[in-house]
Amino acid sequence: MEALIVEGGVRLKGTVRISGAKNAVLPIMAATLLTDEECIIENVPNLRDVATMTQLLSFLGADISWEEDVMRIRVKDVKEPFAPYDLVRTMRASVLVLGPLIARCGFAKVSMPGGCAIGERPINLHLRGFETLGAVIDIDSGYVIAKVEGKLTGNRYVFEKVTVTGTENVIMAASLSEGETVLVNVAEEPEVVELIDVLRKMGAEIEEIEPRVLRISGKEKLGGFRHRVMPDRIEAATFIIASTMVGECVDIIDVRCEHLEAVLEKLKECGARFESIDRGLKVYGAEKILARDVETAPYPGFPTDVQAQYMAMMTIAEGVSIITETIFEKRFMHAAELRRMGADIVVEGQRAIVKGVKELKGAPLMASDLRASASLVIAALAARGVSKISRLYHLDRGYEKFDEKLRSLGARVWRVKE
Ligand code: EPZ
Repeated sequence: MEALIVEGGVRLKGTVRISGAKNAVLPIMAATLLTDEECIIENVPNLRDVATMTQLLSFLGADISWEEDVMRIRVKDVKEPFAPYDLVRTMRASVLVLGPLIARCGFAKVSMPGGCAIGERPINLHLRGFETLGAVIDIDSGYVIAKVEGKLTGNRYVFEKVTVTGTENVIMAASLSEGETVLVNVAEEPEVVELIDVLRKMGAEIEEIEPRVLRISGKEKLGGFRHRVMPDRIEAATFIIASTMVGECVDIIDVRCEHLEAVLEKLKECGARFESIDRGLKVYGAEKILARDVETAPYPGFPTDVQAQYMAMMTIAEGVSIITETIFEKRFMHAAELRRMGADIVVEGQRAIVKGVKELKGAPLMASDLRASASLVIAALAARGVSKISRLYHLDRGYEKFDEKLRSLGARVWRVKE
């Protein structure tokens, strides 16, 4: 296992480029199961989760080559539509192969993803969607077993809750089916929109007939595609917050500001200072960080994936802020670790009350999930003294070369074996 040593007190300056979006590339990789033609994906980030998805797709029968940031995938035949537990448990997004496998093979046996640090994370809305399209779903010894006689058939399905991968899974299944599907109350995250763009390149017919309502005309066959993955808005938000807290002046390249309106709006309220530059954002360190309340919500609201990073900033803000997490039931694991650095945070159910303190102090810390790890790194950069953040694998799941990028901005961070 590896840990990250962070020496606080250094002001960041320079230029950093944002990598391709993890939560866009994972569903796009799953979509390659829908065709037997070659698919080319560019700007692929070098992440553990992407490596896991390549392992799973190869297991299913895909030929994959991955050079630099270009990945070529071709699933001429699905060897066996089976996704084993030891692969799925390391990455819940593996559940995204379910929709394509049912649509293509008429059968799929995929391990139920377990819960995780941030919540129970059921997939009932995915499964009900597949049933609505004619699949018979059984749960047996921890596996989802889905079967359909012939092809899936179009239908109308209303998502009881907005679910990102649930929307992606059912859109992929409906794209390779017979007849017309109408999906209501779909997620509208940029990563979902990007998957729809890719499916259209494959020949899928998908139309937004009203806000959060899609009409999909199922196709007999879908073709290959070439696509360049969009920049990761959550990584971008992480660097914008870090630069606001401990930056002198940081140019963040490959940021799509239109994907971050809620975050940028909130940060402006907190006293953050930034301006648009060619292909990105120039962020200056804030003179004073003001405490402001925030509540997470589905896109275009404030993203739950930025909540932990925002909390790190609120720990040294002037005043008291209330952070309300409405998406996941247990997404405050970082609070206890931030308290070890001297933060003043009280968690009450889905709310965390954060009272800004003068300064944080470095401490030994434990990462618990992907975004919590980023929040601890940010806090450690702002703290006085040295911190050691263990279980770095959480960070490597979703941030490409995070420590290298920080070092290139002048941060004093380095990896050590644990
Ligand atoms: C996606 O997870 C992202 N992962 C998450 O990012 C992100 O936090 C989340 O969306 C919310 O934006 C990927 O895209 C790979 P949901 P997902 O289904 O799809 C409940 C990260 O850090 N729900 O939108 O699993 C669920 O429990 C990760 O990169 C059901 O009840 O999230 C949650 O409370 C973490 N039944 C809410 O809906 C279902 O069938 C939203 O979850 C599905 C979801």
